[in-house]
Amino acid sequence: MAQKDIIILGIESSCDDTSAAVLKNNTVLSNLTAGQKVHELYGGVVPELASRAHQQNIIPVVDGALKMAGIDAAAIDAIAFTRGPGLLGSLLVGTSFAKAFALSLNKPLIEVNHMMGHVMAHFIEDEGKDKPEFPFLCLTVSGGHTQIVLVEDFLKMKVLGSTIDDAAGEAFDKAAKLLGFPYPGGIKIDQHAKLGNPNAFEFAKPVITGYDFSFSGLKTSILYFLQKMTAQNPDFIQENINDLCASIQRVIVEILMKKITKCANDLNITQIAIAGGVSANSGLRNALVEKGKENNWKVFIPKFEYCTDNAAMIAITGKYLYQSKQFVDQSISAQARMPLPT
Ligand code: KG4
Ligand code: ZN
Repeated sequence: MAQKDIIILGIESSCDDTSAAVLKNNTVLSNLTAGQKVHELYGGVVPELASRAHQQNIIPVVDGALKMAGIDAAAIDAIAFTRGPGLLGSLLVGTSFAKAFALSLNKPLIEVNHMMGHVMAHFIEDEGKDKPEFPFLCLTVSGGHTQIVLVEDFLKMKVLGSTIDDAAGEAFDKAAKLLGFPYPGGIKIDQHAKLGNPNAFEFAKPVITGYDFSFSGLKTSILYFLQKMTAQNPDFIQENINDLCASIQRVIVEILMKKITKCANDLNITQIAIAGGVSANSGLRNALVEKGKENNWKVFIPKFEYCTDNAAMIAITGKYLYQSKQFVDQSISAQARMPLPT
């Protein structure tokens, strides 16, 4: 007998993107995201403004995702939402909306860990693209996290290494700020890096044992270097912007690739994935393909729309949780800190 289709509505609001997606089994029917320009002015996400913007966006975004998918709310099997980790005020909006919507529709409710969602995005159906086989390693690199995750099965994952200070996305954004780009500047560094010489400048790399990461020293090294050079030539940054971006990107990518390579070698794992906002970075994507060829890895790189925060990754995680009947009730509340097992 053919299995019944599973229709999941996913809701994501952990940081500054309000997103809703509808999935039919592993296929995305819609994935709609409203970003928040307001933070550009402040050089980082302002939590209070983020939650207000989520509050304004959540209904039109969910409504739009349902309409785009051509799905009536009554046809949904369950509602999956990001419970954490993230900004509490932001998470509260998605969580409260999901609870109220589930109650009014009399549908089951599923909590999703945002970081697990980034990894699970690899199981979204994508024409002609293979899915990773277990066990695989996922380098999850976002604005708030940098993790090497050992993925043993669907929903079964363990963090083997993480950052002891700044996340990789934060390193990109803080470097971008020093160069004068608005928040979030990671993508600007990527764009300018394409036109520059990655070996023009060198910056300090961390000396950290094991699989952990550190990026705060790099930020300081960039700051001191820029202070020294602009004291000699006030136009140094403008005159060297492409080379600066290319060099900074190379160093961040080298730091990331060194640790994932060490971990893959130590554990003898040859299926390697990347996830999270920084996995949209062209330097990282190219480096993973290159290292993959060198080491005979099978590499998995998400489509751009599933790298940065999106609700499709929450809905796909929700689909597997639905199949294993992991539901929550109306007493659930958002959680700012929600670590994956280590
Ligand atoms: O996963 P994500 O959307 O949100 C969090 O969960 O944090 O990641 C956002 C981060 C930001 O730091 C942003 O600058 C970075 O991902 N990012 C990039 C690129 N696109 C997004 N960093 C470097 N290159 C990019 N192309
Ligand atoms: Zn994220």
